[in-house]
Amino acid sequence: MKLFTTGCMKFDGNTFLILDQTQLPHQENWLKCENVSQLVEIIQKLAIRGAPAIGIAASVLLGILAEKGLTKEQLLDAADTLRAARPTAVNLMNNIDQMKRVIIDSDDSSYITKEAETLLDEDIQLCGSMADHGASIIHPGEKLLTHCNTGGLATAGIGTALGVITRAHEQKKDIFVWVDETRPLLQGGRLTAWECVNRGVPHKIICDNMAAMLMAKGQVDRIFVGSDRIAANGDFANKIGTYSLAVLANYHKVPFYVVAPKTTVDPECSSGDLIPIEQRSSDEIKGVSGSFGSCQWAPNESDTFNPAFDVTPAELVTAWILDTGVFTKQDLPKQSWWLG
Ligand code: MRU
Repeated sequence: MKLFTTGCMKFDGNTFLILDQTQLPHQENWLKCENVSQLVEIIQKLAIRGAPAIGIAASVLLGILAEKGLTKEQLLDAADTLRAARPTAVNLMNNIDQMKRVIIDSDDSSYITKEAETLLDEDIQLCGSMADHGASIIHPGEKLLTHCNTGGLATAGIGTALGVITRAHEQKKDIFVWVDETRPLLQGGRLTAWECVNRGVPHKIICDNMAAMLMAKGQVDRIFVGSDRIAANGDFANKIGTYSLAVLANYHKVPFYVVAPKTTVDPECSSGDLIPIEQRSSDEIKGVSGSFGSCQWAPNESDTFNPAFDVTPAELVTAWILDTGVFTKQDLPKQSWWLG
C-alpha cells in the first residue's frame, strides 16, 4: 500500500492508522487498525464515520491484508464482514463489491492493493468535482447551513457538503455557515466546527432546534447536506434531522441541496422506503460521552428510539450536487440520471 495521509486515516508504510473521531475535538488519538475485527469495532463505535470514509477505510484494509498474503478465501470473508459493519451507507457496499470483483478476478495481490489505492484517489477527486459544482451555485455573502459532518473527517478528500462550503470560502465568497450541532452524537458541534476552525471558515454552532427560527428570520440562504444513500428516484438517507431541515426549508423557501459522490447512489434501491436505517444504542440518547467525559441525564428506566438516519423525499430537494454534475427534478425520470 502506498504511503498516504487524509483528514481521517493514514498509512505510514507499516501501520494503518485511523483518527479516533469519538475523542475530537479535544484529543487527536490515532488508532492502529491491523485486522478486520478491529476495523469493524472502529466503524461501529464511529471512531471513523461518514459514508465515503468508511468505504475507503475498509478497501484500504483489504489492500493491506492482500499485501500481507491472505488467501483469496480469507480476503473474501474479510470483505463480507466489513461490508456488514454498518447498514445504511451504500458507499461501504459499493466499494467492497468493487474490491471483491478484483479479489475474485486476480491472482496477483498487487492488483488488489492497487484497486484500494485507486478508490482512495478517486474519492479525493470526486470530492474536488462536487466542491467545484456546488460552490458555483453560492453567491457572495450568503449564509449557509449544514448538518452532521461531511468534510475531511467523512471522506478521503475535502468533503461533500462541507467541501462545497469550503470551496466557496476558498473562492473568497465571504460566506458564513450555521453548523447544526447534530444530536445525539454531535458530529456538527464537535467535528464540523473543528474542521471549520482548521479551515478558517466563519461559522456559528447552533442547536438543531434553532434552524427554524433562523430560516424564519431570513438568516439562511441555502442548506447543504451529505448523504449515506441516494435511491434511484432521488430520495435519500442522511443523518437523523436532515428530513426536518428539508421540511423547514420547503416551508421557508430556502434552497436545499444534497451533495454526494456517485458511490452514494444505489441504483438497486428504487425509493427511500427501501433504505435500511441503522438503529443505535440508547446510551447515545440518554446522555453524552466523549473527550469531555461521560454522563447520563435520563432515568435508567426510560426506553429510547435512536435511528441514526432519516429519509428525505426527492420532492423536498432543490438539486442533487454530484461529482457528475448538478441535477434537478427534471433529470430524475432519465435512466441513470446520476451519471450525467
Ligand atoms: O453516523 P455518521 O456520522 O456516519 O453519519 C454521517 C452522515 O450522515 C453524513 O452526512 C454522510 O455520511 C455523508 S458524509 C460525506
